[in-house]
Amino acid sequence: MNILKVLFFFMTVLASSSYSSSQAACVKSVCAIHEPEIRFPFRIRRRQAETCGYPGFDISCDKYNSQTILNLPYSGQFTVQGIDYASQEIWINDPNSCLANRILSLNLSGSPFYGGFNRDFAFFNCSSSSNLSNYFDYGRLNPIGCLSGPTFFVFATASLRVTEFLSPKCELIGTFPVPIDWPFYEEVLSSELSDHLRLTWDVPSCGRCEYRGGRCGFKANSTREIVCYNVPERGIPRTARYAVAVGIGVPAILCFVGLLCCVCGRVKSLALRRGPIAEFNPTVAPQPTLVMGLDGPTLESYPKIVLGESRRLPKPDDNTCPICLSEYRPKETLKSIPECQHCFHSDCIDEWLRLNASCPICRNSPYEQSSPEYNV
Ligand SMILES: *[C@@H]1O[C@H](CO)[C@@H](O)[C@H](O)[C@H]1NC(C)=O
Ligand SMILES: *[C@@H]1O[C@H](CO)[C@@H](O)[C@H](O)[C@H]1NC(C)=O
Ligand SMILES: *[C@@H]1O[C@H](CO)[C@@H](O)[C@H](O)[C@H]1NC(C)=O
Ligand SMILES: *[C@@H]1O[C@H](CO)[C@@H](O)[C@H](O)[C@H]1NC(C)=O
Repeated sequence: MNILKVLFFFMTVLASSSYSSSQAACVKSVCAIHEPEIRFPFRIRRRQAETCGYPGFDISCDKYNSQTILNLPYSGQFTVQGIDYASQEIWINDPNSCLANRILSLNLSGSPFYGGFNRDFAFFNCSSSSNLSNYFDYGRLNPIGCLSGPTFFVFATASLRVTEFLSPKCELIGTFPVPIDWPFYEEVLSSELSDHLRLTWDVPSCGRCEYRGGRCGFKANSTREIVCYNVPERGIPRTARYAVAVGIGVPAILCFVGLLCCVCGRVKSLALRRGPIAEFNPTVAPQPTLVMGLDGPTLESYPKIVLGESRRLPKPDDNTCPICLSEYRPKETLKSIPECQHCFHSDCIDEWLRLNASCPICRNSPYEQSSPEYNV
């Protein structure tokens, strides 16, 4: 039964790939059905030709053909949890479920990968005769189970404040940069560090090609030259797809507020903020009785990041502000709603939340989320 399924799967995979001449031999592959799809710049060694992958991007399957393995030159084997070809990101984890242990010796040199968001975590080793309640009082400071023993426990934190609470029985193991998955996470690593590590790469640069629906590969008979194949002649532009999705999922008022905030942002930048917005469209002017937004201090408390030049985004496939529908640009400030981690231009979401205390995407309300029964 399963073999038939696998065969069928591979047949569909073969049928669906249509590379041009030089890439004809390159078909995408997988180690197992629910494992990440492997194609250029990655290739599965001994299954896809050497010219189907970029140097440094070799993948292998484990001996049961159930896991996808990436071998880093100085850090050994990791399981591949996901690959986003368009945003050029890969998520990896430890095959032995002790990611914290791998972080202690993580060295990405010699590989094309680096951490998109790095945060320094201090690892401590505390003898268990010390007063544990002191640590547990401070937030959720859980020992990392797979590194701790009966007489000692190990934990990791990115918070400098925690170190003030430490007893002298805790020894600093060291500070390690962790390529975290999501920049808004709290500062204390979860006990088992179950989140994947998110790595990214710059070369080969196939993201634009992938975003346009194309496929990347080596040019015929060339050693290093990359070309983009099979870009669809006409596709619905990405921004339009967002517009459709948001237009259907979110009531029309969102569009108005989106417009409002972008117009308002522009007006602000031109220092022409005198004209009341209501004049712009008096029929849909915000009605005071409906205003149930968040206050300034709450808005200020939400986590913000400033995008770097590389525009590495908090989540793959998330490069457009759902409110104003414009793409994020370098140096722009983004803000995330902690309860659901949806992410927006800081100005756009502030404007929205001042009018309406719920996430424009999932409708989760920060107020409902922080009600007592939710916190139990
Ligand atoms: C990574 O390993 C290489 C080779 O052993 C070494 O030269 C380099 O200094 C290491 N990098 C870090 C950050 O430890
Ligand atoms: C923590 O300290 C104990 C001894 O107190 C040692 O056996 C253990 O290997 C240390 N663990 C780490 C991760 O350094
Ligand atoms: C541990 O510390 C807490 C508060 O700091 C204190 O109430 C408790 O008595 C201490 N326990 C021991 C065994 O020292
Ligand atoms: C590419 O190389 C192959 C053999 O390696 C050769 O048969 C083919 O003619 C070459 N194609 C071009 C366009 O040079």
